[in-house]
Amino acid sequence: MRVLGIETSCDETGVAIYDTENGLLGHTLYSQVKLHADYGGVVPELASRDHVRKSIPLIHEVFKQAQLSSDDIDGVAYTAGPGLVGALLVGACLGRSLAYGWDKPAIAVHHMEGHLLAPMLETPQPQFPFIALLVSGGHTQLVDVQGIGQYQLLGESLDDAAGEAFDKTAKLMGLDYPGGPRLAKLAQQGKDVGYQFPRPMTDRPGLDFSFSGLKTFTANTLAKAGTDQQSLADVALAFEQAVVDTLVIKCQRALKQCGRKRLVIAGGVSANVRLREQLQSAVQKRGGEVFYPRPAFCTDNGAMIALAGALRLQAGQSTDLAIKTYPRWPL
Ligand code: KG4
Ligand code: ZN
Repeated sequence: MRVLGIETSCDETGVAIYDTENGLLGHTLYSQVKLHADYGGVVPELASRDHVRKSIPLIHEVFKQAQLSSDDIDGVAYTAGPGLVGALLVGACLGRSLAYGWDKPAIAVHHMEGHLLAPMLETPQPQFPFIALLVSGGHTQLVDVQGIGQYQLLGESLDDAAGEAFDKTAKLMGLDYPGGPRLAKLAQQGKDVGYQFPRPMTDRPGLDFSFSGLKTFTANTLAKAGTDQQSLADVALAFEQAVVDTLVIKCQRALKQCGRKRLVIAGGVSANVRLREQLQSAVQKRGGEVFYPRPAFCTDNGAMIALAGALRLQAGQSTDLAIKTYPRWPL
């Protein structure tokens, strides 16, 4: 199965072609980060308009890259949710209409399913079943993945998502949008000066998360710490280590609870180097394996949507002619 995938749920326009036999045949991505930087966050109306401008040229480019034409694909996948409604509508209208025009099936893909399957873009591919830790700007979830479409939610954040906590804490530190990667970069210069940040909800059973308290704890710590670069870096490190420890503890718990050996991490925060390293060493110590996508496929991209669409199509699934989007959509 060879599928064109279109991702427009937030501020990246991503287009790719995935083939279930030969893997990824081409991918293009346009990030709107600069467009939204002055506003300190994504402006939904500007995001939709930019997707309208960029998507067709990107589709043209990806076909050129793969040296294919519309005759060579078996279907069109698009992100139908969750995400910003206007932004989703651009990709959904375009994807559904191209499929109609080309007389091919369309596949409406769940954005988080795209993220959780993204490690399958790499070799070696993780085999089912596995535990997935999804950590993005909007979600923090632990999922037991038994196969395509067989997802059992084990736990999730009761308040801020991990990426949201990174972004809000970065803002408190005066870092520019997007804050998560900037905070992580600052933390690289940090030293452990003995800050005792909490590891929220790890002292009780269960697999849910809560990150909003860490942001408040950081605000209080910043009020007492110095305002020089080194003090900020020390606080950034303490915050990052608290998030990483919390995620590592819960992942180990989920693997044990479900009797699984494989862990997949995906979503924007899975680009975090400290998280990757510490999860890898904790899971390997117990004889398990960790899989994650290359950094470019941790954040939003079209490749993961093309992949999810191709696997759904292979399983005999497709979407009817009505164009529907789901800004809030449980996995
Ligand atoms: O998956 P994604 O691109 O978009 C959503 O679906 O939300 O994730 C974006 C999130 C942002 O919150 C961003 O700050 C965070 O991922 N992020 C990071 C890093 N790179 C991206 N957080 C911590 N460390 C990073 N290196
Ligand atoms: Zn995402």
